Amino acid sequence: MRPFGELERMAKKRVGLLFGMEDTFPWALIDAINRKGGDRVEASPVEMSYVKDDGVFPYDVILDRISHEIQFYRSYLKCAIASGVRVVNNPIWWSADDKFFDNLVATAAGVAVPKTVLLPHKQYPPSTEAKSFRNMKWVNWDEVFSYLGFPIFMKPAYGGGWKDVYKIDNPNEFFAAYDQTRDLTMMAQEAIEFELYYRCYVLGRKRVRIMAYDPKQPFHLRYVKNPPPMEPAFEAKINRDALALCEGLGYDMNTVEFAVRGGIPYAIDFMNCAPDADVNSVGQENFDWMVENMAEVLIEIATKKRRFELTGAWPTIMNPEKAAGEPVVLNKKYEPQGQP
Ligand SMILES: Nc1ncnc2c1ncn2[C@@H]1O[C@H](COP(=O)(O)OP(=O)(O)OP(=O)(O)O)[C@@H](O)[C@H]1O
Ligand SMILES: [Mg+2]
Repeated sequence: MRPFGELERMAKKRVGLLFGMEDTFPWALIDAINRKGGDRVEASPVEMSYVKDDGVFPYDVILDRISHEIQFYRSYLKCAIASGVRVVNNPIWWSADDKFFDNLVATAAGVAVPKTVLLPHKQYPPSTEAKSFRNMKWVNWDEVFSYLGFPIFMKPAYGGGWKDVYKIDNPNEFFAAYDQTRDLTMMAQEAIEFELYYRCYVLGRKRVRIMAYDPKQPFHLRYVKNPPPMEPAFEAKINRDALALCEGLGYDMNTVEFAVRGGIPYAIDFMNCAPDADVNSVGQENFDWMVENMAEVLIEIATKKRRFELTGAWPTIMNPEKAAGEPVVLNKKYEPQGQP
C-alpha cells in the first residue's frame, strides 16, 4: 500500500534553486517553472543542512546562483554532479575557469578580445616568500606597455562585481594601481575605447538577449531603454560571438559583454556565471525574458537526455594537440551549433 500520488510525484523531475540574497529572480523563476512544467517538472529552493557522504541528492537539476561566494555549497554541488544531478553552471568547470584562459578560447573561436597579459602577484600569497618564486624573472614593463598601449584596464583574472578594476592612463598610475592589488592574480588589458557597449544574456547555449548597456552610467541607468535598432549583420555577429563563447566554455547561464570599436565587437567580460537578474537593475522586460527563458532551459535540461560534460567545447575548438610552442590561432572550421 502506498499513499496515492507518491509515485506520480516521484516521476516529476525536480529543479532546485540555490541562491543567496537575491529577492526577485529566484521566486519568479520557481513560479515560472511550476507554471510551465505541468506534471513533468517542479521547482523549489534547495534544502540542506549538513551533507551526508552517501551521494544522495533529491534533485534532477540545480541552478546555482551563489557557490562563488560560499565554498560549502561548491563542495555540495561537485558531489551532486558526480551523483547524477545536472548543475547549471557546472561547478567543476567554474572552479577551473578564469578570465585570462577564456581570452585564449575566444581567440580560437573567432571572437575578438583586447590584448591582455597576466601579471605576477604583487604580494606574496600566504605561506610563500621570495624563494618560492625562483622560476620568475623580473617583468620588462616597457615591453608590456608597448604591447598593450595606454589606456590600460587592470582587473582580477577571477573577478566580478567591478571589484579591483582600474582604468590607467600612464605608467605612474599603473604602478600605483598594481600596488593595491595584494596577492590577487591580475591581468592588464588594452582598453577598448568603445562607441557602443552591449551586455547579452546567453541561456542554454542557444538563447541570446542583446541589451544595450552603458557602463559609464550609475548602476540603475545602465540598461539603455529604447536603444536604436541594430544593423542585422552586426546583430548576427554579436549573436554568433555570444553563442561561441558560451558553447566554448560550457555555460548554460551567462552574461557576455562586448565593447564595440570601429564596428568590431570585442568581448570584455564573459565569465559571469551567476549574472545579475534583479528586476530593479535589469528592468521589467529583460527580467521577464530571463525568467521565461531560463525556466524553459531548465525544464529542457531536466527532461531531455544530455551528454555529461565537464568543460564545454574548447578542447575541440582550441586544438590542445598543436605544438606547445605555437600560438593559439583562429579555428576557421569552428562555428557554434546553437540556433536562437
Ligand atoms: N578592456 C576594456 N576596455 C574597455 N572597457 C573595459 C575593459 N575592461 C573593463 N572595462 C570596463 O570596466 C567594466 C568592469 O569590467 P569587467 O566587466 O571586466 O569587470 P567585472 O568585475 O567582471 O564586472 P561585472 O562582472 O560586474 O560586470 C566594464 O563593464 C567596462 O565598462
Ligand atoms: Mg562586466
